Amino acid sequence: MKNVPLAIDVVEAKASRIDSVDFENLIFGNVFADHMMECDFKDGQWQNPVIKPYGPIQLDPSAKVFHYGQAIFEGMKAFKDDEDQVWLFRPEANIERFNISSKRLAIPEFPKEVFLEGLKTLLNLDRDWIKKGFGNSLYIRPFVIATEPGVSASPSKTYKFMIICSPAKAYYSGEVRVFFADKYSRAADGGVGYAKAAGNYGAQFYPTNLAKEQGYQQIVWTDASTHEYLEEAGTMNIFFRVGEKLLTAPTSDRILDGVTRRSVIALAEEYNIPVEVRRVKVAEIVEAAKKGELKEIFGAGTAATINPVKGFGNKGEKFELQDQEDSYATFFKKKLMEIQYNKAEDKFGWRM
Ligand code: COI
Repeated sequence: MKNVPLAIDVVEAKASRIDSVDFENLIFGNVFADHMMECDFKDGQWQNPVIKPYGPIQLDPSAKVFHYGQAIFEGMKAFKDDEDQVWLFRPEANIERFNISSKRLAIPEFPKEVFLEGLKTLLNLDRDWIKKGFGNSLYIRPFVIATEPGVSASPSKTYKFMIICSPAKAYYSGEVRVFFADKYSRAADGGVGYAKAAGNYGAQFYPTNLAKEQGYQQIVWTDASTHEYLEEAGTMNIFFRVGEKLLTAPTSDRILDGVTRRSVIALAEEYNIPVEVRRVKVAEIVEAAKKGELKEIFGAGTAATINPVKGFGNKGEKFELQDQEDSYATFFKKKLMEIQYNKAEDKFGWRM
């Protein structure tokens, strides 16, 4: 594949929509910044990218994305420090995973340097949409969709890469309780669970709705064959604290290699918090909860950041977790934010 020239066309919005936005009362992912990046793949190569005013795109009704779900995405965030400088958190890890996901969905990989250069140009244009202060960020949603018209079940020959950005506060507006899956599954061996394939998320909506009817905001997915092992929550990786020990499942075909997950494990190692990356049995977590040894459950993800879980349900039994004074979730969230908002030394080199 030929390299794309780095020339990025920029068409600026005539007027900003920023004054119409209530930044104090944002609902996650509902409002989008003034500009977006767009780049088409045709004739076997990515064409010149363009950054232009945010707005609708036109697609043929037979475009393959609508029929076969050939689509992948990423989630990233930009933060602003007290000196108005804008920072990305481990963007190269997301770009790498973007291309891992693309490969699995037979989508051509997107050139890393164009991705990063385009993103920086976009953020510079829309920098006023990034508010200062812990908890404020600009959520970045890069994605690729298959655009070729035609309903034959084969990979598209044309694609559209885009980046759209949305000012964000918390992902979950209230307390989160989770349900351990015992019937439905998210992913299977040899499948696409490790990719950020659009369909991985759409397929969770129905079982998650059923869980919501029972008072749970999320499902913790278990392995598809036995439902005995805890794997990943719908929008985040999942951690369990039993006594002082932190447990999380290893990544696999079925589990997303979360950037926040990786960062939590690195922080735990740095601060001597005992962490075990191994298969975690439903039975051991239920037993720990019954003995009072299960101190915390929390999710880790870009959108969710570190989200404490207040309780869980398993096969008709409900468990509540007590707040911990020395909460690991609070500790990791603080450590991550200090790096993300340039409030602490970044010995890992995560800020960019
Ligand atoms: C993210 O954390 O960025 C995600 O991709 C989760 C998303 C489904 C909200």
